[in-house]
Amino acid sequence: MKFDTPATTNPIDRGRVVGIPHDRIDGAAKVTGTAPYAYERHDAAPKPAYGWIVGSAIASGTIRSIDLKAAEAAPGVLGIVTYENAGPLEKGDFNTARLLGGPKVEHYEQAVALVVADTLENARDAAKLVQIDFAPATGRFDLAGERANAVKPKASFGSEPDTSVGDFDGAFAKAAVKVDQTYTTPDQSHAMMEPHATIAAWNGDMLTLWTANQMVAWGVGDVAKTLKIKKENVRIVSPYIGGGFGSKLFVRADALLAALGARQVGRPVKVAIARPQIPNNTTHRPATIQRIRLGADRNGVIDAIAHDVWSGDLPGGGPETAAQQTRLLYRGANRITTHRLATLDLPEGNAMRAPGEAVGLLALEVAMDELAEACGVDPVELRIRNDVQFDPEAGPQRPFSSRKLVECLRQGADRFGWNRRNPKPGQVRDGRWLVGMGMASAFRNNLVQTSGARVGVDAEGRVTVETDMTDIGTGTYTIIGQTAAEMLGVPLEAVTVKLGDSRFPVSAGSGGQWGANSSTAGVYAACMALRAKLAEKAGFAADQTDFEDGLVKQGNRSQKLGALAGREGLWAEDKMEYGDLEKRYAQATFGAHFCEVGVDVDTAEVRIRRMGGAFAAGRILNPKSARSQVIGAMTMGAGAALMEELVVDTRFGFFVNHDMAEYQVPVHADIPQQDVLFVDELDDKSSPMKAKGVGELGICGAGAAVANAIYNATGVRLRDYPLTIDKLL
Ligand code: MOS
Repeated sequence: MKFDTPATTNPIDRGRVVGIPHDRIDGAAKVTGTAPYAYERHDAAPKPAYGWIVGSAIASGTIRSIDLKAAEAAPGVLGIVTYENAGPLEKGDFNTARLLGGPKVEHYEQAVALVVADTLENARDAAKLVQIDFAPATGRFDLAGERANAVKPKASFGSEPDTSVGDFDGAFAKAAVKVDQTYTTPDQSHAMMEPHATIAAWNGDMLTLWTANQMVAWGVGDVAKTLKIKKENVRIVSPYIGGGFGSKLFVRADALLAALGARQVGRPVKVAIARPQIPNNTTHRPATIQRIRLGADRNGVIDAIAHDVWSGDLPGGGPETAAQQTRLLYRGANRITTHRLATLDLPEGNAMRAPGEAVGLLALEVAMDELAEACGVDPVELRIRNDVQFDPEAGPQRPFSSRKLVECLRQGADRFGWNRRNPKPGQVRDGRWLVGMGMASAFRNNLVQTSGARVGVDAEGRVTVETDMTDIGTGTYTIIGQTAAEMLGVPLEAVTVKLGDSRFPVSAGSGGQWGANSSTAGVYAACMALRAKLAEKAGFAADQTDFEDGLVKQGNRSQKLGALAGREGLWAEDKMEYGDLEKRYAQATFGAHFCEVGVDVDTAEVRIRRMGGAFAAGRILNPKSARSQVIGAMTMGAGAALMEELVVDTRFGFFVNHDMAEYQVPVHADIPQQDVLFVDELDDKSSPMKAKGVGELGICGAGAAVANAIYNATGVRLRDYPLTIDKLL
């Protein structure tokens, strides 16, 4: 099914199941520990052996020699995989560094061996006995130091590194009010709950991987390419995932090494990347340096806006596209965005929740706060004055498909009590606490991806949906079930949802907050195909057939769904593909964040007192799980503002604080109160679901609202994240 004209009324609009808050249909299995995660799949792959990854002890250089004698002689050892015995491997398309290094080493903790033993303890013990003689080379580890060597990168995901409209320099020179500031954000780690984990088993030439992966079809392609085997011979099963945040968009060393280990020892092998290995072995969100220049008139109306971004990555890697939102968020006839990429020999940088905007808004929205102060305009009002209903780079011929930023700002401000804020910093005391309020706009692109599904009805009228879509903790099972229930006129309890198996139709996968809208649109397409089959069987005209209460109806005639499906059941498969609507309309999600902080007047300890926000993201398919997505993302934004930072050892090129004890993330006590309002919106140009993404929107701008609240509380303007006590004192 092709979606290339704005959707009018369709069965989803009835809103009997979709748009209603529902508990997760997988919730009970998860909280009772009966949902099997990848590392636990002994039911599917009995008696697996255990693999332990040996990581490189240098960041850059080569392996001179590997001595396995002592490790091979250790108790329980069944085999050891290294580049010397792994056979020919090709790098996959989605990873920048190879998943098994040697003889060349590309980054610290890059996997260079897998020790396989009968128990985890024996594997880990023997891994310490692997003797590797490394020849280190000098590496580049410091973004600030390499900034001068940064170059213009290639376009990534269709996004050009640079854009320019009008005469920025001329307009900025003439502007009555100017902001010109530089902001920095550090490397960050995804820190999802479930580590990367895989059980691999070979059956002849056929490889099955029970793994934790956001994008099943990408994973199949990359595993096949890396092992030089046919895609048809790779099956990935990933029904439950304990968080991803982008860290599991691509197969990692656990998947490849489990496959190689299982091949070597001739039985299933399971591998988890141990928590202290994750930050250096896998991907991270790259650090940025961002210069922002805003030129406005005395009323704060922007005429010139520039955002220049520097980030670094391994050779062949890509930039952190932190200027993305600056291309679309505010007005201004004269505008520049640039991205420059330095070569760094640190671990691989890649997507983490809202890549680009999450850190771009940490800079832009503080710059906007600085502009508001310089103009004497309220920060909410400043953003309203700079709203634009079309793509400001392309002009009015490219309107937004829907854009309710102003509604979010107004409704969010009302609900938060923004009018109680004292605009003068450092004025409000509550005992030993200096109290301040800050706000920021939220913006995240809305991408759509082709997505397929298969839907069937059985003789009892039960519906089954199968798609390789994943649920990374987001609530996908439930919204897919709701969609099928709505389309086929059955209660949610009558739908079984099966996800995350490469034997099912290829879906959009979970990434870039496109998963919810795209994957449910794929289910919509399959349901439309099934409805047509059912109508035909009933002898009804497809466009006059209703589906409700388990019945297929035309006028006052009706037949039971199960009776029509018959003993064999009735199935249909289709996918939703997109025409050029994305080119004709700018698509994005919007919101407004508000935050109140207290700052201890003596110690400078920062406590968030409350956070609130209003968000517009098209149809909210399940308000309960959507709210969970937003508050989780706001929490992550608070982490980015106050504590998250991978500390780089610039001598040896690795992240020093590579565990959950030293890489700080917010805990419940850090986040006392969060309020989320969804602004009514249906986007008829995003998909037949009229939904947009919401999984990443909540992090976008949240940290800047915290930063601006700290400024309002203290009068201290911080521009280098995280905003720790040492910087405030
Ligand atoms: Mo997302 S960073 O595409 O999982």
